[in-house]
Amino acid sequence: MLKSRRLRVLLGTVAGAATLATSLAACSDDTAEGGGDGSIIVGFVAVGPEGAWREANEQNVQDTFTEEAGFDLRYAPATNLDQQSQIAAFTSFVDEGVDIILLSATEATGWEASLQRAQEAEIPVILVDRGIEPDDTSLYVTRIAPDNVQVAASVAEWAVAEFPDGANYFTLEGPAGVGVVNERNQGWDSVIGSKPEFVKVGAQTANWSAEEAKSVFETVLRANDNDIQLVFAQNDEMGLGAALAVEEAGLTPGEDVKIATIDGTRGALEALAEGRLSFVAEYNPLFGDTLLDVVNKTLNGESVDSYIVVPSLTFDSPEAAAEALPDRQF
Ligand code: AHR
Repeated sequence: MLKSRRLRVLLGTVAGAATLATSLAACSDDTAEGGGDGSIIVGFVAVGPEGAWREANEQNVQDTFTEEAGFDLRYAPATNLDQQSQIAAFTSFVDEGVDIILLSATEATGWEASLQRAQEAEIPVILVDRGIEPDDTSLYVTRIAPDNVQVAASVAEWAVAEFPDGANYFTLEGPAGVGVVNERNQGWDSVIGSKPEFVKVGAQTANWSAEEAKSVFETVLRANDNDIQLVFAQNDEMGLGAALAVEEAGLTPGEDVKIATIDGTRGALEALAEGRLSFVAEYNPLFGDTLLDVVNKTLNGESVDSYIVVPSLTFDSPEAAAEALPDRQF
């Protein structure tokens, strides 16, 4: 079965061999499994609507695996971020015999059985952005994502430089159970954990949402008599929500409370340019080209690294944000 996929890839990438493809396709028995027209069928078990970063990432994947490029992308966003809907989509992709599966997991745990089924069916799986726990690399080809631990550590390093005498800080986390949340805490703690002058007032999930973050942080400011100088927001939307909460409390974001975020979306860079955010670490969502290269290599039988890190930038001033905004694609 893998052999015929490899053949289809060769054919897919060498348009001139179309005639050969057609005749081979006619006699091969895998039309049920793949595109009779020689297209490579990619099953994308996606997260779906979840904010600006997610929209940019999943649109980038869809803009990469086009029909023109020889792909038949089957986009399956989760229903309300529900893992069971993802597992159902994954299972149907395996039953359909797609050529390859891309997985952005809404939950880190609970994927062993599905990944084993794909392996038995010789369908390679690539993790897009989100990791799995336990991280058994024998169950998937590779993970492609920026390095969450390193990105969060860069935020903490900025905080250490910005607050030489330390600060009272609060962490706004993504949803519990999502792999990147743990990785971002790990990166932050790897720097701040050893600094007693940084006092952790608390941490709470705001589910990547500006609205939830505003209400969470309003409560936290009130409960702590506004005695918090620093917010580590694990994504842009939550950082923007915290800025609104600071303003609601009659304080000034960027002065009384400094807010650092991860993602690097346009909205956050605009707020940084205005001084309402103080630091933005990019978590680059546009890695379709890397993904395409890995899909072709994998279906060609070539090996790739088990974790492919997507490079990301940081923005530590209104000037840096203003400079990046004109060409910002997400
Ligand atoms: O997995 C990446 C995270 O998911 C982004 O940082 C967040 O904005 C998104 O929803």
